[in-house]
Amino acid sequence: MESLCKAYENYFKIGVAVSAPNIDTHADLIRTHFNSITCENEMKPCVVQPKPGVFDFTKTDKIVNFARENHIPMRGHTFVWHNQMPKWFFTDDKGAFISRSMLLSRVREHMQVVMERYKDDVWCWDVVNEAVFDDDAAPEKRYNDTLRRSPWTEIVGDDFIVQAFKIANEVNPDAKLLYNDYCEYLPNKRERIYKIVKNLIDSGVRIDAVGMQSHWHFDDPTLDMEREAIERYASLGLKVQMTEMDLSVYEDKKFYSELHQPDPEYAALPPEVEERQAQMYGKFFAMFREYKDVIESVNFWNPSDEVSWLNGFPVPGRKNYPLLFGADHKPKKAFYSVVNF
Ligand code: GLA
Repeated sequence: MESLCKAYENYFKIGVAVSAPNIDTHADLIRTHFNSITCENEMKPCVVQPKPGVFDFTKTDKIVNFARENHIPMRGHTFVWHNQMPKWFFTDDKGAFISRSMLLSRVREHMQVVMERYKDDVWCWDVVNEAVFDDDAAPEKRYNDTLRRSPWTEIVGDDFIVQAFKIANEVNPDAKLLYNDYCEYLPNKRERIYKIVKNLIDSGVRIDAVGMQSHWHFDDPTLDMEREAIERYASLGLKVQMTEMDLSVYEDKKFYSELHQPDPEYAALPPEVEERQAQMYGKFFAMFREYKDVIESVNFWNPSDEVSWLNGFPVPGRKNYPLLFGADHKPKKAFYSVVNF
């Protein structure tokens, strides 16, 4: 069987997000098909620094050691985010928010320890994750016309992204630095992302690429939306990386909408749905190949349908089939539509 990353060696890296248990269950699949690895959760602040100054790299090292043994470079994910931060990070021992300068020095200390430890392993870092607010977010969740309200905006203010990138660049001038977000292809959100990234560039702060998470549904995004987003970010002189790709077989927009109309639940993947998924993957990868000078990597979020985070999200207990490899770890039609070109 053909290797996914070998098929793309003249185009861009093909990566995968893995958990520590995936190293035991998916080792062959990972080393055969992928030439970049992201820790699904194991490099996030809540895992590596659960208590002030107490770092725990047990799970992270399991993944990084596997990557080292197999000579696979790693993506670093992530530092500044409103989720999966340990509570203590923002507060003093009475539970009150700390000062701006104290939070920024916690960010620096955290980056120093983690970036230093993995400086020979990690080729790029998602420095800031998901800072832009969503169209449907309640007004109280908005900080201004661009940013979501979070402890970062409350404590640091609207320059927290600039500060985070400055610190990351000082601590690790060699790794590529990214801003990473989801629904990055929707025109409204795309323009907000564009604005904060442009602000970094205009402020003379280094950013190398935009992370387009790429959590897709059928027909969402359209090929044109995706192309426009790639071109918009690239127009700033930046690279892009598809950082968390999966293609849900459900149209969850319905699930989220007021007209709540749940999708059918597939106990097994129907052949016509598998075919539709293969066609969408094939069409998008054909377009990605046109942009090989701009796209640095395309990364799947989880190695196989067996361990996709979408089994259970957003509908608890519902199986999904979003990846190129099935629950049996075997290639699906989508795999062949991506490698045969
Ligand atoms: C976001 C985050 C990832 C991960 C996925 C869902 O997109 O960036 O770290 O948590 O959600 O698993």
